[in-house]
Amino acid sequence: MAEFALPKNSRIQARGKTYRIEGAAERVRRFRIYRYDPDTGENPRYDTFELDLDRTGPMVLDALLKIKNEIDPTLTFRRSCREGICGSCSMNINGRNGLACTTAIEDYKGEIRITPLPHMDVIKDLVPDFTHFFAQYASIEPWLKTKTPAPSGKERLQSPEDRAKLDGLYECILCACCSSSCPSYWWNSDKFLGPAILLQAYRWLADSRDELTGERLDELEDPFRLYRCHTIMNCANVCPKGLNPAKAIAETKKLLVERAV
Ligand code: SF4
Ligand code: SF4
Ligand code: FES
Repeated sequence: MAEFALPKNSRIQARGKTYRIEGAAERVRRFRIYRYDPDTGENPRYDTFELDLDRTGPMVLDALLKIKNEIDPTLTFRRSCREGICGSCSMNINGRNGLACTTAIEDYKGEIRITPLPHMDVIKDLVPDFTHFFAQYASIEPWLKTKTPAPSGKERLQSPEDRAKLDGLYECILCACCSSSCPSYWWNSDKFLGPAILLQAYRWLADSRDELTGERLDELEDPFRLYRCHTIMNCANVCPKGLNPAKAIAETKKLLVERAV
């Protein structure tokens, strides 16, 4: 349900800390980073960190690691693979959701402002709470479901053509960049599944080996779970893996129409 008042402790304070470079540096870049620590009871703030780009790796994640390792060890963010595979380092960089590990610092001019993914509860600093997002993922039962035994007795084979139907779907890393940039998800995330989970749901509808397509469609046929998508397309524009959740949602709607006629 839409909430129009800012939750307690969410208003950003005017002043944070500034950490300046000591000594000479030719390529100085400022990173303005959202900070929130629920244990302090204080409101969030922006801290500003100056980095010498000649002593920093090329990606935004490199800058965050340098800050954590050398300036402020309390800076909190998620990361694991550092190559766009795990989906951990999703955040908002200068107003656009993306992966810190695949976003080059040089893609931006001037100060870089980093905040957590929008419209998600914040656990600390740049770490959003994915509890609800992953509960929604679990709700679509994202595994192969069958009613008949495997023909070979061992495994279920798939033709190259059927396997190709999963391209553009299986690559999703569940980073939530799309869902947290979707206005429909902002206002109705309690009931609308959002683009990431709907893309994942379609991944199983499109799988030639899955035998519970009808039951899966029954679960999705709902004014909120699926039909809150209004084809605004933010999801496809922002996906760091180049996927198109809106297309997957349209294909799901098509399957529902086809079985109705
Ligand atoms: S196309 Fe649908 S899912 Fe994608 S951003 Fe728009 S409303 Fe959200
Ligand atoms: S569709 Fe793209 S943006 Fe959305 S969760 Fe998957 S990888 Fe991330
Ligand atoms: S650290 Fe894994 S996607 Fe960025």
